[in-house]
Amino acid sequence: MKIMREWKFLRKGLPESIYVRAYEDRIDLLRAVIVGAPSTPYHDGLFFFDIAFPSDYPHQPPKVYYRSHGLRLNPNLYENGNVCLSLINTWDGNKNERWNSSSSTILQVLVSIQGLVLIDRPYFNEPAYAKVKNKSNKYWLDKSNAYNEDVFALSCKTMIYVLGKPPGNFEGFVSDHFCKRGEDILAAVKAYRDGHVIVGYYRHDNSSSSSQVSVSDNFESNMNKLCLELKKAFRRELKMPLDMEPDWVAENEWKQGILNKIIAVLKWICE
Ligand SMILES: *[C@@H]1O[C@H](CO)[C@@H](O)[C@H](O)[C@H]1NC(C)=O
Ligand SMILES: *[C@@H]1O[C@H](CO)[C@@H](O)[C@H](O)[C@H]1NC(C)=O
Ligand SMILES: *[C@@H]1O[C@H](CO)[C@@H](O)[C@H](O)[C@H]1NC(C)=O
Repeated sequence: MKIMREWKFLRKGLPESIYVRAYEDRIDLLRAVIVGAPSTPYHDGLFFFDIAFPSDYPHQPPKVYYRSHGLRLNPNLYENGNVCLSLINTWDGNKNERWNSSSSTILQVLVSIQGLVLIDRPYFNEPAYAKVKNKSNKYWLDKSNAYNEDVFALSCKTMIYVLGKPPGNFEGFVSDHFCKRGEDILAAVKAYRDGHVIVGYYRHDNSSSSSQVSVSDNFESNMNKLCLELKKAFRRELKMPLDMEPDWVAENEWKQGILNKIIAVLKWICE
């Protein structure tokens, strides 16, 4: 049976950053998680997909559903769960990119999502501008950097949702992942907030670089909020050891921000 063969390919070919689990009682369903790759705004995020084999599989491609939590963090992944990809015939593309019933596999579908969708500059995947956008032009690069700011913030939100309610069969996986990566994720949030690294390109060894990248004010305050929320989620869900330095600066900045707003409102009311 073709689905059994798929499992053989998956067992042999899956990269370390993609995990697949079957449902005990439903051989026609799979759940997969892709760990966002380094040097992309998806780094360290967990992106879950549910895959169903239609009854006439492999004549029809598998149906792939992205668990979006209502967030649009990529041009190809919709809030409603749709995944746009030539290989599963949900996206234009020439004939040899589309599903081929004799040679295409689930493994290829997952590797394509990782390598063609969850990429370093997803902005350039937006079809509306694909032909005009010039990746070496400053105007479009700035647009792409701004898009990456949004993507990273949405990826952090996704982490918080996933931690709060890990998809079935992946509870242990989720907590292991964030136990290992939690501190680095928080360090990345801070490095981006402070403009040390272009959003998406954080690495353990260049977080404290002195180079200055400009980020929007909105992004900075967003990162302060997310830093606190992530920390809470890590502590609550993972019972993370508290040798993690509390980030008093961020917390105080955030409180100060609220305080300033209250003062402003009071002044406005009193004047
Ligand atoms: C589908 O794959 C088979 C086997 O690799 C190949 O011979 C065939 O040309 C492919 N069909 C298309 C439409 O690409
Ligand atoms: C892209 O932009 C660069 C820098 O502005 C320019 O040198 C190059 O010719 C452009 N390429 C295209 C295909 O427009
Ligand atoms: C950090 O490392 C990444 C990956 O090598 C690189 O693309 C980026 O420019 C570096 N950032 C800084 C600020 O050095």
